[in-house]
Amino acid sequence: MERKEFLSLVGKGAGSVLFLSLLASCSKQTSSPSSPGKVDFTLDLTNSQYAALQTDGGFVYVQNIIVAKTVNGNYVAVSAICTHQGGIVQYTTSNNSFYCPVHGSDFSISGAVLQGPAYSPLTQYKTALSGNSLRVYS
Ligand code: FES
Repeated sequence: MERKEFLSLVGKGAGSVLFLSLLASCSKQTSSPSSPGKVDFTLDLTNSQYAALQTDGGFVYVQNIIVAKTVNGNYVAVSAICTHQGGIVQYTTSNNSFYCPVHGSDFSISGAVLQGPAYSPLTQYKTALSGNSLRVYS
């Protein structure tokens, strides 16, 4: 095999690998990462692990769910996994929303998309406060 033929074959092989990688990458962008299924857990708000939930604007992560105490003092919970490409969202007090720092998607406190590139909402979970116990459930 001539050197020129060999380099041509290697080039075609590398091109195919690159093409398949790009194809796989594109399919990841159009699918939504899975969110937690049936959820039912209770947080003891006196536990130091959840101390952030004593303060308006504080939030914690539990089982791929972000639980936040909003600037209005309400407890909310949504999937922590961005529906765009799986980034981890954060609660932001400035917009009272969930923000994904990876590409800038923003979600309302009920999980609705406020700003793309995400186009699917975050799964919202119910919360119920009883004394110092916060139940999060679906
Ligand atoms: S992964 Fe969240 S905006 Fe892209």
